Amino acid sequence: EKYILLVNPKLSYCFSLCYHHMSEILDKIGWASAVAQGLQKPITSALKMQNSEHILYLLTDRTGGLKKHGLVIGLLKMGWKNLYLFDKAGKCVQKNTLCVLDFYVHESMQRQGCGNILFEHMLQDMNVKAHQLAIDKPSQKFLCFLNKHYGLNQIVPQNFFESM
Ligand SMILES: CC(C)(COP(=O)(O)OP(=O)(O)OC[C@H]1O[C@@H](n2cnc3c(N)ncnc32)[C@H](O)[C@@H]1OP(=O)(O)O)[C@@H](O)C(=O)NCCC(=O)NCCS
Repeated sequence: EKYILLVNPKLSYCFSLCYHHMSEILDKIGWASAVAQGLQKPITSALKMQNSEHILYLLTDRTGGLKKHGLVIGLLKMGWKNLYLFDKAGKCVQKNTLCVLDFYVHESMQRQGCGNILFEHMLQDMNVKAHQLAIDKPSQKFLCFLNKHYGLNQIVPQNFFESM
């Protein structure tokens, strides 16, 4: 029984009602994602969500877990950044770009289509196509994922400069 939960702390009454539970969950999955990507500290945490305009999608299994209280399977965090981008010809343009900021599925659930459920939901929700997204240092797994599900196998490497 999989559900996508949209976490937007600024709007969500639920988030304020169960703040402690939610922050514990976000901090834990944020850390798990960081470890999976070999990062020193998490990109996603309850505090960071509170102070940002980022959009977080959580894939949950409502009846999962030992006590059947539900569990979180994965996360996908999106956000807009004003970036200087280079096209294939090396021409530079400044563009407000939708970026994949964090993407993680729990190790026990990888390669079972969960990442695809999250990603597809986000694409529809945000009305974008996969090739329009910017990704900061995509992992090998993510590159394989993009190739498999969206036929994207030609990346245009960037030296990202964020505009102030
Ligand atoms: C990237 C990630 C979110 C994909 O989630 P997922 O649930 O495994 O994705 P799906 O099941 O929908 O798609 C599976 C496809 O993703 C790619 N993939 C997933 N795990 C992989 C692995 N260990 N090695 C190579 N490719 C992998 C493959 O293309 C795979 O298809 P295949 O099993 O037929 O080879 C997940 O692998 C993950 O959390 N990785 C660790 C964190 C990470 O790298 N995040 C990206 C940050 S830039």
